[in-house]
Amino acid sequence: MSKYIIEGGNRLYGTALIGGAKNSVLPILAGTVLAAGESIIHNCPRIRDVELTIEILKCLGCNVTVQGNTVCVNAADVTDNYIPMGLMNKMRSSVIFMGAILSRTGEARCSYPGGCELGARPINLHLKSFKQLGVEINEQAGFLECRLEKYKPGTVQLDFPSVGATENIMLLACGQEGTTTIVNAAREPEIFDLQDLLVKMGAKIRGAGEGIIEIEGVKSLKQVEKTVISDRICAATMLFMVAAAGGCVELKNVNTSHIESIISVLRGCGADIRLTDCGVNIKVTERIDAVDMVQTMPYPGYPTDAQPQLMAALCTANGTSVIKETIFENRFKAVGELKKMGADITLGGEMAIIRGVKKLHGANLSAPDLRAGAALVIAALAAEGKSEISGVCYIDRGYENLEGMITDIGGKIIRV
Ligand code: EPZ
Repeated sequence: MSKYIIEGGNRLYGTALIGGAKNSVLPILAGTVLAAGESIIHNCPRIRDVELTIEILKCLGCNVTVQGNTVCVNAADVTDNYIPMGLMNKMRSSVIFMGAILSRTGEARCSYPGGCELGARPINLHLKSFKQLGVEINEQAGFLECRLEKYKPGTVQLDFPSVGATENIMLLACGQEGTTTIVNAAREPEIFDLQDLLVKMGAKIRGAGEGIIEIEGVKSLKQVEKTVISDRICAATMLFMVAAAGGCVELKNVNTSHIESIISVLRGCGADIRLTDCGVNIKVTERIDAVDMVQTMPYPGYPTDAQPQLMAALCTANGTSVIKETIFENRFKAVGELKKMGADITLGGEMAIIRGVKKLHGANLSAPDLRAGAALVIAALAAEGKSEISGVCYIDRGYENLEGMITDIGGKIIRV
């Protein structure tokens, strides 16, 4: 199990290039199952969750090759419709394959995805929508057997704008006859990226990003070449590193329209943020100011995936901040570890109260999940002294070569 050793206290200067979006590449790779040919996906991050997704593609009978950040998926022969339990348990977002496998083969089998560090992670909205669209679902002892005899197009009203449920319905509906409308659809940029992939494959989809998505099913979908959008959460993570440690860094290959809520919060904290032609430049010379309150919301609200990183930066802000986490029931897991570094944080239900302290000190830490792990890296870079962070495997799920990016801007970090 590798860990990070970080020497904090250095300001950060330089340039960082942001890679492809984890939360876009996963549904896009699932979407390649819909075309009986070879699709080429560029700007895929080299991260654990992509490796697991490729393993699932291979289990389904696809031929997958990887060259750098390009993944070629030949789905000419999809010979199976079962997502192995081991893979489903390692990555609960594997559930995103169900819509594509059902559409291509008429059946999908998988074990019920377990919860994860963030909470129960139910899939009731996925299953309720599938049933309404004509999918027969047999749940027995934690095992799901889905069968599509006759697709029933119509309007699906999502009780919550679930990203995964929206994507699963899009992947199922685009190859099924009739008009399917998703109301209260998720509006994240990754939804728009999936729509872009499917339209390139010949699907008739519109409305991604607006909350109502209309899909006119087509008979067949063809192989595609597609470049994944850049990772807005990785960009946010790098911005909060500078907010916490100070310095001046330019991020390249960032779509700043995807991080408006983060830029707004950081400007509110006193960071000097300038948009450039291919990204964003952040300059922080003083301690940042506290925020009155930030509440996580579905896009375009403040993203839950950038909440722990914000918290880490606010630990040494001027004043007291409040964060309200409304998306996941267990997304304050960084708090215990941040307190080991001297942070002053009080939790109460969905609320966290962060009283800024002058300095954090290094400590031996353990990453509890992907984004909380990133938050600990941010805090360690800002802290005085040395920190060790175990559980880097969590961080590897969503960040390609984080230590390399940090080293390139002057951070003192090594992986052992
Ligand atoms: C996606 O997860 C992302 N993962 C998450 O990123 C992200 O935090 C989340 O969207 C919200 O933006 C991927 O895209 C691979 P949801 P997803 O369905 O689709 C509840 C990261 O760190 N819910 O929008 O699982 C659910 O429990 C990861 O990169 C139901 O109740 O998120 C949660 O409370 C973490 N029933 C809320 O909705 C359902 O059927 C949001 O879930 C589905 C979801």
